[in-house]
Amino acid sequence: MKLWGGRFKEGTNKLVNDFNSSINVDCRMYKEDIKGSIAHSKMLGKQGIIPKESAKKIEDGLVELLKRLNSGAIEIDLTSEDIHSFTEGILTYYIGDSGKMLHTARSRNDQVTLDLKLYLKSYINDIINDLLNLEEVLSLKAKENTKTIMPGYTHMQKAQPITFSHHLLAYSEMFKRDIKRLLDDLERLDEMPLGSGALATSTYPIDREFVAKELGFKNITLNSLDSVSDRDYAIETLSCLSIIMMHLSRFSEEIIIWCTNEFNFIELSDEYSTGSSIMPQKKNPDVAELVRSKTGRVYGDLMTLLTVMKGIPLAYNKDMQEDKECLFDALDTVSLSIKTFTGMINTMKVNKEAMKLSCKSGFTNATDVADYLVKSGLTFRSAHEIVGEMVLYCIDKNKGIEDLTLEEFKSFSKEFKEDIYKAVDLLTCVEERSVVGGPSTSSVNFQIKMLDEFINSIKNKQ
Ligand code: ARG
Repeated sequence: MKLWGGRFKEGTNKLVNDFNSSINVDCRMYKEDIKGSIAHSKMLGKQGIIPKESAKKIEDGLVELLKRLNSGAIEIDLTSEDIHSFTEGILTYYIGDSGKMLHTARSRNDQVTLDLKLYLKSYINDIINDLLNLEEVLSLKAKENTKTIMPGYTHMQKAQPITFSHHLLAYSEMFKRDIKRLLDDLERLDEMPLGSGALATSTYPIDREFVAKELGFKNITLNSLDSVSDRDYAIETLSCLSIIMMHLSRFSEEIIIWCTNEFNFIELSDEYSTGSSIMPQKKNPDVAELVRSKTGRVYGDLMTLLTVMKGIPLAYNKDMQEDKECLFDALDTVSLSIKTFTGMINTMKVNKEAMKLSCKSGFTNATDVADYLVKSGLTFRSAHEIVGEMVLYCIDKNKGIEDLTLEEFKSFSKEFKEDIYKAVDLLTCVEERSVVGGPSTSSVNFQIKMLDEFINSIKNKQ
C-alpha cells in the first residue's frame, strides 16, 4: 500500500519503485517504528485529537503486530515502500478504519528521525557494553603482566623498557575515551523530534512532552526545520565509531607484528587464527588483519553521510534516506569487530621470555645510564654524549651496556661505581619509573585500579 496514491493518475515505474524503496534497510527499525507509533497514538487519544476508542484500538493493534513480528508469526512485506508504510498498512488491515487515524499530526519526516534516534540509543548502549567487555579483558591481562618486561618503541626502534601491562593499559585509556565519547553522543541525541511534522509542526494541539516522556527522551527538539533535517547525531555516532576502529586498527597492527616469527611476543589461539590452503606451516592473524581493513570501511561510512548531508537545503530531502545503510553497516561492523577482537586478546598467549630477551638488545637501558651519571653530578647533555660513545663502543664489541666490565665503564667516566649494574638492570629501569602514568608495578597497579573503577562506574549507571 502507498501512503500517497491520491494525487497520482498513473502507477510508479517499476525501477523507480525499487530505487525509491528503503524497506530492505529500514525494516530493522520495526520495533522502534511501532513503539513510536504507540506513543503518538496515545498522545492523540489523550489530547482528544482522535477518539479515545480509536487510540486504544490502534495501540492494541500495534502491540499485537509487534508480538507477531517478534515471534515470526508474520514477516515484514518487503514490497512496501518503507517500514513506516508497512506498519500503517498492516495495522489498518488488522483494525480497519481506526488505523487510518494514526498518521494525524505526523509526517514520515519526523517519524523516521524518531525511529533512528530510538534505534541508535539502544545500539550505542550495546557498543558501550562491547567496549566494557574489552576493557575487562584488558584489565585481566594487565594484572597478569605487571612484571612482564618488554621493549617500548619510538619510530619502531627499541627505546626504553616498559611492561606489557603498561602497553595494554595504553589501549584501555583509548577505549575509555571511546566510551565517554559515545555517552556524550547519547546526551545530544536525547531530543525527541516527533511533532515537527513534515517541516512546520501541525495545527493540532499535540503534547510533545508527553511523547518524549513515553519514549524515554530527556528533551524535545526546539526547531521543526532542524528537527526533521538534522542528522548530526548519526554523523557524530559514525565519528565515534571511526575513532574506535582507528584504535582497534592500531592495536591490530601491533598484534600482527607481535606474532611474527621475528618478534614472537605473543601467540594467538588456534580458535582466533586461520591457516593457508597451500602452506601447511602457516598460522595467520586474520582477525587482526580484518579489523585493520574494516576500519577503512567504517571511515567510508562516515564519509558517505558527511557527503550526503553537505548540500541539502532545509528541510527534509530524500537524499537523507541514504543515512541508514552506512550507519547500520558501521554499527554492525564495529560491534562484530570489538567482540571478535576481545576474544582474540582474551585467548592469546604471552611469550614473556621473548619480550624480555628482546629488551636486552637495542640498548633500551641507555637512558638509565645517562640518568645514573646525572645523579652523580653531570649535566644531562654531557651524560648523553658519554653514553652515546659507550653505545658506539658496545656496537663495535657486540656487547650490551650491562655486559661491560667496571673498568670499561670507568674508561668512559670515573663516576661509574659497582652499583651501575643494578641501575642498568631492566627491572630497575622499569621500577624506577614510578610516577603516575609510568611502567613500574606501582604505577600500573594504580592504572588498573582506575580502569576497574571506571568500568564499575559505567556499569552502575546503566
Ligand atoms: N524512507 C524515508 C527515509 O528513510 C522516510 C521519510 C520519507 N519522507 C518523505 N517525505 N518521502 O528517509
